[in-house]
Amino acid sequence: MLGKQEKRRRYATSPYALYGEKVPSAGEWRHRLGFPPQNPLLLEVGCGKGEFAVFLAERYPAALVIGLDRRADRLAAGCRLAQQKNLANVYFWHGDALTLASAFNPGEVEAIWLNYPDPYPKARQAKHRLTHPRFLWQYAYILQPEGKLHLRTDSEALFLFTLEQLEAQGWSILYANPALPPDSGPPEAYFPTTFALRTGAPIRYLEAAAPLRAR
Ligand SMILES: C[S@@+](CC[C@H](N)C(=O)[O-])C[C@H]1O[C@@H](n2cnc3c(N)ncnc32)[C@H](O)[C@@H]1O
Repeated sequence: MLGKQEKRRRYATSPYALYGEKVPSAGEWRHRLGFPPQNPLLLEVGCGKGEFAVFLAERYPAALVIGLDRRADRLAAGCRLAQQKNLANVYFWHGDALTLASAFNPGEVEAIWLNYPDPYPKARQAKHRLTHPRFLWQYAYILQPEGKLHLRTDSEALFLFTLEQLEAQGWSILYANPALPPDSGPPEAYFPTTFALRTGAPIRYLEAAAPLRAR
């Protein structure tokens, strides 16, 4: 079992790692990473060990997939998986979702995924939830017109909180299911991540489109 320090070291030396000067400037992501301007850019926020980002990269080979997390030791697992599969369209960015609006140009991202974000159940921790308004406005800012936010969670409280925040900020709820029945909906909704497997609870899934005025 590797220690956190060794995982961080492995992350830092991986060709799949984006940190510091390796992180493209706003408006430069596709160009810097060798993708045509019309190809989709898919972002997973809080990607943890990166299995879902790797899954997206395999499912959408033309897309540029970015997994973002503030824990480099977790991202090391995603880098390793991408290397094992010899993928050329996924990268793991060590950063904070609070910086998204300065990291991307408006409309640069086609879709955002949140998989099992920490629910932060106490009211005083609400600002850390990845669907708090201080994150939602940034998602709306960087998503292209028709771009979508996808959330999967096992937390009823976070699911309801998110619906409330999205509605208050003028997002269109395209799909919301508090207990997704097996084999309905897109395969992305079922892909097991580390946290999904750990909880085994019903999947609560929603899709929303950003308000036009934010774009
Ligand atoms: C419960 S884990 C889920 C990981 C993965 N999505 C999964 O399903 O296995 C939540 C992840 O979100 C990351 N995270 C929380 N807040 C973040 C933020 N502001 N910016 C970037 N990552 C964040 C944490 O470091 C953690 O890896």
